[in-house]
Amino acid sequence: MAPLISIERLSVAFNGVPVLRGVDLSLQQGEALGLVGESGSGKSVTWLAALGLLPRQAKVTGSVRLDGREILGAPAAELDRVRGGRVAMIFQDPASALNPVLTIRRQLCEALALHRDLSGEAVKAEARRLLDVVGIPDAKRRIEAYPHEFSGGQVQRIMIAMALAGHPDLLIADEPTTALDATIQAQILDLLATIRREMGMAMVLISHDLGVVAENCDRVAVMYAGRIVEEAPANQIFADPVHPYAQGLIGALPPLDGPRRRLTAIPGTVPDPARMPAGCAFAPRCSLAAEPCCVAAPSLAPISDGRSVACIRAEASRRALLGMAAE
Ligand SMILES: Nc1ncnc2c1ncn2[C@@H]1O[C@H](COP(=O)(O)OP(=O)(O)O)[C@@H](O)[C@H]1O
Ligand SMILES: [Mg+2]
Repeated sequence: MAPLISIERLSVAFNGVPVLRGVDLSLQQGEALGLVGESGSGKSVTWLAALGLLPRQAKVTGSVRLDGREILGAPAAELDRVRGGRVAMIFQDPASALNPVLTIRRQLCEALALHRDLSGEAVKAEARRLLDVVGIPDAKRRIEAYPHEFSGGQVQRIMIAMALAGHPDLLIADEPTTALDATIQAQILDLLATIRREMGMAMVLISHDLGVVAENCDRVAVMYAGRIVEEAPANQIFADPVHPYAQGLIGALPPLDGPRRRLTAIPGTVPDPARMPAGCAFAPRCSLAAEPCCVAAPSLAPISDGRSVACIRAEASRRALLGMAAE
């Protein structure tokens, strides 16, 4: 089946410093992809670049095709139709994406007028329906309120309603629940799952929380220093991570019923993009690194059906993991 969206060799540099270094990713209709990796690995920049949302000084190369049609470098008018229409994004900090001086009704109706062929009473009715869908009680009255009159969780629900206004085929959810407490976070993720099921919408869930991704995604791509280092079906990567970085991330996962932790189990930090090591970017932190790792950066290569990894020590890494498991 032809992918819904297909990103190839996507590279981004700011002031001559590369931060994305050849990202390949694709999504099928209706699929949920988790994109994980430490802060600064390029998760947000990947999708901002794909949708033409980076500042002008960013140098972007590669290819991004939506239903086979190239959108990288497309005219502004076309990108405006894509964003909020076929592809919607929700962010970590929803408050910044809502206008504080306009009512929710105004903002929802504007989004609907822009992307849907509705007018007059039909717009208002659809705006109220969307608030119902995302679980804002008493939508008829609450729609006249301003953003500050809602709680953090409710504002995130309103952002989801705005994202749904254009009937997107793909929702990019960039750390959508990071700012919320655990109970509200679970409610928002459940809401996204329900909406996805009902609308057949594809989703990219960007998160540094592997637990969140494990519970909500079909497939996972692990990013490190501007590249995808491993990609696999979610159940496989959590059972048997191959890239030493993925092993570190997943080893850092507490048991499913335990408290969640951030990714702190791997010593060292993500390299500064301006001082990227020659060879594999993870080598300086990798316990399995050998001399060839410091010479050339490995490319992402298939290892089995639906699985790829960028590591020349992948086999050693697998053996180390199995050895550990046998002890
Ligand atoms: N507008 C920008 N100008 C310069 N550097 C940026 C800009 N946006 C992001 N970066 C850099 O790009 C890298 C990747 O950032 P980002 O995609 O936001 O990481 P992530 O979302 O994985 O935490 C980081 O090193 C970040 O500092
Ligand atoms: Mg980010």
